[in-house]
Amino acid sequence: MTSYDAVVVGSGTIGLAAAWRLAASGRRVAVVDPHPGTGASYAAAGMLAPVTEASWGEEALTQLGVRSLAAWPGFAAGLAAASGLDVGLRQGGTLLVAADASDRAYLDELLAYQLHCGLDASWCPASTCRELEPSLAPGIRGGILATGDAQVDNRRLLGSLAEATRRAGVVSVAAPATLATAAGSVSGVVAGAGPHVEELRAPLVVVAAGWASSALPGLPERVVPPVRPVKGQILRLVARRGDAEVTRTVRAVVHGVPVYLVPRGDGRYVLGATSEEQGTDTTVTAGAVYGLLRDAHRIVPGLGDFELVEARAGLRPGSPDNAPLVGPTALPGLVLATGHYRNGILLAPVTAEAVAALAETGEVPDWARPFDPRRFAADGAAVGAAVGAAVGAAP
Ligand code: GLY
Repeated sequence: MTSYDAVVVGSGTIGLAAAWRLAASGRRVAVVDPHPGTGASYAAAGMLAPVTEASWGEEALTQLGVRSLAAWPGFAAGLAAASGLDVGLRQGGTLLVAADASDRAYLDELLAYQLHCGLDASWCPASTCRELEPSLAPGIRGGILATGDAQVDNRRLLGSLAEATRRAGVVSVAAPATLATAAGSVSGVVAGAGPHVEELRAPLVVVAAGWASSALPGLPERVVPPVRPVKGQILRLVARRGDAEVTRTVRAVVHGVPVYLVPRGDGRYVLGATSEEQGTDTTVTAGAVYGLLRDAHRIVPGLGDFELVEARAGLRPGSPDNAPLVGPTALPGLVLATGHYRNGILLAPVTAEAVAALAETGEVPDWARPFDPRRFAADGAAVGAAVGAAVGAAP
């Protein structure tokens, strides 16, 4: 048995970011994950895109994304200093283009909504799009330029977070976790299975296990988060010498279907992604790969010459309102940081900040309150209540 101030379940971007922040303020922290760094964070494209991900009815989520995007340069610099590893933050903006007249009508509506939300977005006629990105197909119908949307290299990010947490003294346990409770409160986590178990005692457990958060053994029924896996199939390509490339992230709506192409700036590209309700299936299908390549090729014909180096499926943690669940629960000591759906990389800085504030003061900052996990509780009565008793004060 070992005692910690906090145990984090899940070592994806959200779990590691939270662990790093908790350890940075002097806490003894352990992270438990059976397969560290192999989940949605690894499959992701790394887009930091609150503007081009904005969707009707999700204003609070969009504003959270804008807040987190603003925090990213400092977060990335802090991580680089703490780990010695750069995360590849690129602030080149995003161009979201339409393939046909109906896609153009959709983007007109979307731009009106983005401007209504006060977001930094503007219309570019097709000729301007092609001046910005000469490799775009001649037939595109114009697009939305979002100069603030950015990206990080999500795999470098995972490496940097792993090293920063290690240097901060966070203990990493590669094992399945079971939540432990005693006298109506969290008492820690049991790591491992069968005869090979280790008890990690802690008054605070942060569940940041992505879609698997809802399947954590030991979670009392009343605090199981309503998160589900949403499959995304995603490709990685490499441009070869002389290939016609793009310089900024290019997204498109192609006959009603979204696609994105994220250039890392060194010839590597990420092309994504499907969005499928297929449970925990992670099969890469011929139809999905075909569809992604067909639609991207329609927008950037030169990518037909790129080398296809990887096809993978990841599972996003979807929530009923597409927004994350960050904050305390009805079980004292249990904090959730999950349900980030399409925006886990983007929302890492604010999620870590909210978890750290909760551990320090017993409350999340005001801006995080809309994402209180208890908004989905059957009675909803606890939302907005004082949460100090739930997590205890800082050590
Ligand atoms: N954030 C992009 C995606 O989830 O596919």
